[in-house]
Amino acid sequence: MSLSGNDGRDGFTSKFGIICATAGSAIGLGNIWRFPYVVGENGGGAFLLVYLGFILLLGIPVMLSELVIGRRGQRNTFGSFRRLSPGKPWWFIGVMGLAAAFMILAFYSTIAGWTLEYIVKSFANAFKGKSSEELAGMFQSFHTGVFWPLFWQVVFIVMTAWIILSGVKKGIEQYSKILMPFLVALLVIMAIRSLSLPGAMGGLQFLFKPDFSELTTSVFLSALGQAFFSLSIGMGAIITYGSYIRKENNLTTIAAQVSLADTLVAILAGVAIFPAVFAFGLDPAEGPGLIFHVLPSIFQKLPGGYFFAIIFFILLAIAALTSSISLLEVVVAFLVEELRVSRKKATIMAASGALFVGVFCTLSFSSLSEAKFFGKTIFDLLDFSASNILLPLGGLLIVVFVGWVMKSAEVKDELSNGGLLKIRLFGFFRFVIKFIAPVAIAIIFFNSIGVL
Ligand code: PHE
Repeated sequence: MSLSGNDGRDGFTSKFGIICATAGSAIGLGNIWRFPYVVGENGGGAFLLVYLGFILLLGIPVMLSELVIGRRGQRNTFGSFRRLSPGKPWWFIGVMGLAAAFMILAFYSTIAGWTLEYIVKSFANAFKGKSSEELAGMFQSFHTGVFWPLFWQVVFIVMTAWIILSGVKKGIEQYSKILMPFLVALLVIMAIRSLSLPGAMGGLQFLFKPDFSELTTSVFLSALGQAFFSLSIGMGAIITYGSYIRKENNLTTIAAQVSLADTLVAILAGVAIFPAVFAFGLDPAEGPGLIFHVLPSIFQKLPGGYFFAIIFFILLAIAALTSSISLLEVVVAFLVEELRVSRKKATIMAASGALFVGVFCTLSFSSLSEAKFFGKTIFDLLDFSASNILLPLGGLLIVVFVGWVMKSAEVKDELSNGGLLKIRLFGFFRFVIKFIAPVAIAIIFFNSIGVL
């Protein structure tokens, strides 16, 4: 990032850069790895419907609220709250965000590490001629091993830290703008191939035909957690990026465009994966390994599949990187601005901390697979606590902050760039963040954890 003059801090210089970076944060493993497996575990179509409703009604307003806080506060998450509401304990949202950033980085780097292994496997033509059982076995023996999953996790965290440190972030953003359309194009090709497999219809029905008997309170919480995770909201990544956005950019457009792109990529991933899952007779509810079984099977059946596989896993790893840098940036910006640590030290500290926790996540598929807390492995526990507890709670407090603590005139000023932009839906937005979003999130959240 280069200097843009916002308070003399680093910032995004172009609208292009902001959209790239924010969409880069949102679009990642959450769309391609997590979305399909969570849909699979939660019964399909009805989940998708609830998910889409949450993106529209809760996700976009929370994202917009975060952008307002960040650009108004001109600080990291913690600092922005302290600046906007001095002497009040709202900075606690920032502390929750830091915890969430660590937890997500920890388990995210496990999965991102898997994608790196799959780049190597693709180059080595390791999927060729294998049945889907054999591919499942291959994944099984890889991810329940100790050395390679840890090795790739370290590589991924070092890459993330290196990007944060070396100032190539801007370069990455520009690249990803060129590369992400390729990822989408590849997903389209894979979706078409998947749809043309015999037995594919079952997958489409699973994804798009809602069976409302599947809707339990835990499905609602999973949909909420997935929506927040996928949009990178509820923990301050968007607050941090918002603080780098210049005063002349339109926050509402950014929130709308990023949410739309994120949702389209997730649905596309679903259309690529579920028809193949049903065609190959696999179990949609099998969990985090889902795409690592299914995608290689699709590549096998694709002309030129060797090259497609290589390109796909490289692009997936890049998508994961543009998300993980936004997670690390939350912590680094905090350490630099609040604790006056140098950027280099801050990056090393934050990355080492994430790696330390991350090792336990990775080992929870092998040597620590028996270590269970509340019936969950360490990986599942961190994923659940971050995505389904910290993010919704953070999102709840964020909308309450913008809806009830910030003055209406102040919010309006920020959204309209000091009165320059017409904002037609301001009254509606205000109503949603004051009443609808907090009540909806609270009901879903407290209901499913058994408090209501
Ligand atoms: N949204 C990212 C993804 O879909 C993950 C993420 C969550 C990034 C929270 C930042 C903050 O992969």
